[in-house]
Amino acid sequence: MSFLRMQDVALSDQRVLIREDLNVPIKDGTITSDTRLEAAWPTIAAAAAAGARVMVTSHLGRPKEGVFDASASLAPVAAWLSAKAGREVRLVRDWLGGVEVAPGEIVLLENVRFNVGEEKDDPALSQTMAALCDVFVMDAFGTAHRAQASTHGVIRYAKIACAGPLLAAELDALGRALETPARPLLAIVAGSKVSTKLELLGNLVERVDQLIVGGGIANTFIAAAGYAVGKSLHEPDLLDQARAIVAKAAARGASIPLPLDVVAAKAFAADAPHRICAIDAVAGDELILDIGPATAAHYANLIARAGTVVWNGPVGVFEMDAFGAGTQALAHAIAASAAFSIAGGGDTLAAIEKYGVSEKISYISTGGGAFLEFLEGKELPAVAALRARA
Ligand code: 3PG
Repeated sequence: MSFLRMQDVALSDQRVLIREDLNVPIKDGTITSDTRLEAAWPTIAAAAAAGARVMVTSHLGRPKEGVFDASASLAPVAAWLSAKAGREVRLVRDWLGGVEVAPGEIVLLENVRFNVGEEKDDPALSQTMAALCDVFVMDAFGTAHRAQASTHGVIRYAKIACAGPLLAAELDALGRALETPARPLLAIVAGSKVSTKLELLGNLVERVDQLIVGGGIANTFIAAAGYAVGKSLHEPDLLDQARAIVAKAAARGASIPLPLDVVAAKAFAADAPHRICAIDAVAGDELILDIGPATAAHYANLIARAGTVVWNGPVGVFEMDAFGAGTQALAHAIAASAAFSIAGGGDTLAAIEKYGVSEKISYISTGGGAFLEFLEGKELPAVAALRARA
């Protein structure tokens, strides 16, 4: 990828502003998942170790601009960073006027979305941020799909703008999966609606060898193939679109396998009585809530033979154990496969955690929306800006 990387920039004694995505879930002041913080820490630590005057900033939630809101403060993140660094990481509330930082010191600049103009990518705000530093490091892959002042505008004005190691690693992993994949390339795309993932399906179908669909998306494909789906979540007005995607796959010799069997229940409830039935035997009053064991075995077999696996979305209602076996089987198949595997998205990460396979996935993305937009084939604005500077 043609952009400047942090490791190629001399950082000693420089004022280095690092944009991270430290947008972590916080409940009652406690961080409930520090995955993004752990992912960002090596970048921050490397800059400090190089003798930089390190200023880190991020957004947290979507607060109203121009108003301080304690519930969106990065204070819990500052505490986490202090514990990680083994020394105090100061949280600076008003920082646009400039911040004194010693070489090797790390300070955290309060929620970047408190600044008026951040969301609209305001040039004046971008210039103010650029003036704070000698080197700007864009490392927030999870926010690289937003063209905002701290993710995009500042890159245009900073003396030096480069990609941080986390952003670069994410792009390298995604590039390896989609641009130069070991084949067969198999993607799993699941979720409730085809309509929200049309662009994603449309882009992937041009690249993959197999596309496994799951959840409500699969139900729409099942209905498009002429099977009854009962009361299952599906989109009757998108059957033609689903058929067009299947035809596109077939035209390139790729396939979108349909489930052979499913787990069906009469109610969407954890304790609902359920049964395994063939794909052509779903009753009018039933809902499909998972793939069946024959389907799971078939998909696991495809995964075992894949060279690359891209995973976005659980194939059943895995939050309810009665409907989690399909997702569990695929998680274990990906873990056991020699394929290069990449996974992203909130539900997918929750499933990976639930089934204890985190260590066995080749790359777990910190991006939700950014991961999806990359899979949709879109250029991320932050990456485009870095390229333009290179
Ligand atoms: C995310 O959690 O997906 C990123 O941090 C982006 O957050 P946003 O959707 O509020 O821009």
